[in-house]
Amino acid sequence: MKISVIFLSIIFLALSSAVDGSTGAVDGSTSAVGGSTGAVSSRRRASPQVLTSPGHFQGHPGDSITLPCSIKNVGSRRVNWVKGTSASGRRPIMQVKKARRKFIIPKPYRRIIREGKLGTAGTDLVIHHLTPEDTDSYTCSIARHRVTHTLQVLEAESVVEEPSPYIMVVYDPPTMRAYVVEGETTTLSCEANGHPAPTVLWRRQNEEQVLSEGPTLHLVNIRREDAGYYFCSASNGVLDPQERAFYLQVKLSADVWVEAEVSKVVVASEERRALLTCQIKGHPKPKVTWYTDEGPVYNDTGHYFFSKDDLYYLQLENMTPLALGDYKCRAHNEAGEDSATITVEATPGPVQVLEASPTSTYGLYNITWEVESLAPVDYYFVSYNQEGSSEVERRTVSATPQINRSGTHYTESTLVDLTPGITYHLTVRAVAKGHLPGLPMEENFFFTASDPASAHEMSDGTWNLLKSALTVISRLPKVVRDMQ
Ligand SMILES: *[C@@H]1O[C@H](CO)[C@@H](O)[C@H](O)[C@H]1NC(C)=O
Ligand SMILES: *[C@@H]1O[C@H](CO)[C@@H](O)[C@H](O)[C@H]1NC(C)=O
Ligand SMILES: *[C@@H]1O[C@H](CO)[C@@H](O)[C@H](O)[C@H]1NC(C)=O
Repeated sequence: MKISVIFLSIIFLALSSAVDGSTGAVDGSTSAVGGSTGAVSSRRRASPQVLTSPGHFQGHPGDSITLPCSIKNVGSRRVNWVKGTSASGRRPIMQVKKARRKFIIPKPYRRIIREGKLGTAGTDLVIHHLTPEDTDSYTCSIARHRVTHTLQVLEAESVVEEPSPYIMVVYDPPTMRAYVVEGETTTLSCEANGHPAPTVLWRRQNEEQVLSEGPTLHLVNIRREDAGYYFCSASNGVLDPQERAFYLQVKLSADVWVEAEVSKVVVASEERRALLTCQIKGHPKPKVTWYTDEGPVYNDTGHYFFSKDDLYYLQLENMTPLALGDYKCRAHNEAGEDSATITVEATPGPVQVLEASPTSTYGLYNITWEVESLAPVDYYFVSYNQEGSSEVERRTVSATPQINRSGTHYTESTLVDLTPGITYHLTVRAVAKGHLPGLPMEENFFFTASDPASAHEMSDGTWNLLKSALTVISRLPKVVRDMQ
């Protein structure tokens, strides 16, 4: 009987050395035999097995934590706990071994236990009074078997006030509209900031499918069917998503565009000429026509067409008041037509004061002036002051309506109170309809109010002579008059 047991044991020994890292089948057999023959079992060393999987452990400062390390078949081997990694440096911190079915701490490590920082529970490691310095890797090993845990000691949480959630989006183009010619490329952008950080998704109208994720949507080689609304939606999972739509308008490459270089041209009355410019693009090349409210404009005297590249000009020459108003440049081709309007206005020329003559009323003088203006004169600004005085009298004189619509010559007069014997400085400026002020007078007008008391005694002939003399003097520059 005894022989058979020994025989069996020898077979098992052979088996376990043949299959290193022993299997359950062998273990099971070992326990069946173990103990029955002490001498044999101590020689036969079943391979140990670490049953614990690597783990990540977290603890708060001051707490205790247990890092597990379950081992099957410890036998008489030592179980080592090492702190650190090969990169940061390894340091043995604890050792446990089994003696007479109990786990004991070998002598060099008992001091550590007494210090109270580390402890054991079987082969598990217990760390007390956690501090941030305990954050590290911990490896439990027996023979060549090991398990490594990581321990993170959380920082004491500082109180940070949570910002309230928000989403802020900057849209580009800000008009939320993009005009693109077929075949070209454009980029729409929704730059979103917020808390928590928002994400931006792009969709087309009535479509669930997400076109793109991120702040920009690049559209390349745009086709006419790409026209429509593009929604960008910024959401941060807390607030309602912010959604807005861009409108993409696709212009056909076979198209016609007209743009006036300036929408208003103001002509100086002395020049009587204007150049109107339209930029016209189109494919196929459009036919260009100029219009007024009266109908098409012809290339004849007074109207002269020419063009250079995509700029189309209408030169107006020898303009009359009837040449003022709206002009339309119209382009059309197979794709359609487009037009732009240019308004032509005019400013009056400089006023010429003709005379300042006394009336039959003492101190009342009749001032008369003339002006050339293409545009109907609306009113005049009259201002006068005693020579050397800064006190200026001002008045507005309504213009007498012009009966002749193509007339450009205006004459007007007004009555002013003056002190006889005093020299005055006078300015008059014409203002056309639409508050277009004319040019200032070309030279200063000075005149001395004649004394009607002496004038009354004069004969009509003398008086008329005096009047014309007054006018002549007044038209001379001040320097010349002072020399007289
Ligand atoms: C307009 O007429 C002038 C000559 O009168 C000519 O040189 C010019 O080419 C014409 N322009 C157009 C567009 O027909
Ligand atoms: C002022 O003078 C002008 C030109 O001589 C004349 O036509 C006008 O009737 C005069 N006005 C008055 C109120 O006398
Ligand atoms: C109207 O004014 C124009 C230009 O000043 C002139 O040529 C024409 O003779 C005038 N007509 C009348 C009826 O006065």
